[in-house]
Amino acid sequence: MHNYAEAVKDFVENHATGLTVAFVTGVGVLAFRRWMAGRVCRSKVRLEGKTVLITGANTGIGKETAMDMTQRGARVILACRDMTKARIAADEIRQKSGNGNVTVKKLDLTSLQSVRDLAKDVQENEGRLDILINNAGIMMCPKWKTEEGFEMQFGVNHLGHFLLTNCLLDLLKKSAPSRVVIVSSLAHERGRIHFDDINLDKEYKPEKSYRQSKLANVLFARELAARLQGTGVTVYSLHPGVIRTELARHLFQSLALWKRILFSLFMFLIKNPWEGAQTTIYCAVDESVANQSGLYYSDCAPKTPAPQALDDTAAKKLWDLSASMVGLA
Ligand SMILES: NC(=O)c1ccc[n+]([C@@H]2O[C@H](COP(=O)([O-])OP(=O)(O)OC[C@H]3O[C@@H](n4cnc5c(N)ncnc54)[C@H](OP(=O)(O)O)[C@@H]3O)[C@@H](O)[C@H]2O)c1
Ligand SMILES: *[C@@H]1O[C@H](CO)[C@@H](O)[C@H](O)[C@H]1NC(C)=O
Ligand SMILES: *[C@@H]1O[C@H](CO)[C@@H](O)[C@H](O)[C@H]1NC(C)=O
Repeated sequence: MHNYAEAVKDFVENHATGLTVAFVTGVGVLAFRRWMAGRVCRSKVRLEGKTVLITGANTGIGKETAMDMTQRGARVILACRDMTKARIAADEIRQKSGNGNVTVKKLDLTSLQSVRDLAKDVQENEGRLDILINNAGIMMCPKWKTEEGFEMQFGVNHLGHFLLTNCLLDLLKKSAPSRVVIVSSLAHERGRIHFDDINLDKEYKPEKSYRQSKLANVLFARELAARLQGTGVTVYSLHPGVIRTELARHLFQSLALWKRILFSLFMFLIKNPWEGAQTTIYCAVDESVANQSGLYYSDCAPKTPAPQALDDTAAKKLWDLSASMVGLA
C-alpha cells in the first residue's frame, strides 16, 4: 500500500515534464503581469488647500485618480454625466480616504451647454482650481452624434474638453502654479486628423474615430502649452497603459462569444485601474515635471509621441477648427 508521500513522489516522477512546463508558465505569466503593471508615482506631495477637478471620475482610472488626490488632502470635484453613479463613487472615496471634501457636479460632454453650465458653476462657486484632469472618454462606439451633431468620440474626447479647459483658464491662471492633465492614448500613434471630414461623415470606422480623437488630445496639449507659456499653468498629455476598465464596453458587445472568453482572460493580464491611474497622478503632482509643459508621458516618464502629434501647424489648425466648432472663435 502506498502512503501519501509515496503517492506524491510517484505523481511527480510520472509528470515531471508537465509540472516543469506548468511551473515555468506560471512564473512567466506572473513576471509578465508584473511588467504590465508598470511604474508607480512615488511623489509624496500633499494637496491640502488645493482643488482638483476630474472628468469621468465615477469609474475606471478617473475614480482611482480621484481617490489618490483625495488621500493627498485636496478638495476633489467629480465631474460626471450620471449623478447616481457619481454620488456612489464620491461616498466610497470619502469613506476610504477619510477626506470629506469631495463633491459631485454634473457634466455631460455630449452637450456644449452642459460643459458651459459646469464651467460657470465652478467659476462662481469654487475659489480656485489647481489641477484639471480631462479623463472622461468613450471608445469605439457606433456612429453616434453629440447634441450639436458632432461625431461622438471627437465630440466627447476632444471638443467637450477643449471648451471646458478654455472656460476654466482664468481660474487656473489665478491659481497658478496649476496644471492641466489630458488623458490620451497610444492609439494616437495610428491616428490622423481628418480636416476635410472631421466628423467622419464620408467613412465612419469606430477605431479611426477613436485614434483621431486621441491624436487631437496630444495636439491640444501641445498648442495649449504654447499659448500658456509664462502663465504658470503647465500642460501634460499621456498614455495610461492598457487597463481593465469599462472603456471596452462598446467593443465587447460586438464580439463573438469565443472572443469574449479570450478577452476576459486577457483582462486578467493587463493593468488594474490603480496601476492605470499612476501616470495621470504623476503628471498631476510630481515635482520633477513642474517646469515641463506640452509633453507626452507614458509609464510615469516623458515619451516621444508619434510624428503627427509633433506637428505644430496641425496643432494650430486643430485649435482654430475646434474653437469655431464650439463657438469660441
Ligand atoms: N482603459 C484603457 O486601456 C485605456 C487606454 C488608453 C487610454 N485610455 C483613456 O483613459 C480615459 C479613462 O478611461 P477608462 O479606461 O477609465 O474608461 P471607463 O471606465 O469607461 O471610464 C470612462 C469615464 O468617462 C465617462 N464618460 C464617458 N462619456 C462621457 C460623457 N459624454 N460625459 C461625461 N463623462 C463621460 C464615463 O462615464 P459613465 O460611467 O457614465 O459612462 C466614465 O466615468 C479615457 O480618456 C480613455 O481614452 C484608457
Ligand atoms: C475643502 O478644500 C478647499 C480647497 O482645498 C479648502 O479651501 C476648504 O477649506 C476645504 N473644506 C473643508 C471643509 O475642509
Ligand atoms: C522649477 O522652476 C522654479 C522657478 O524657476 C524653480 O524654483 C524650481 O526649482 C524648478 N523645479 C524643477 C523640478 O526644476
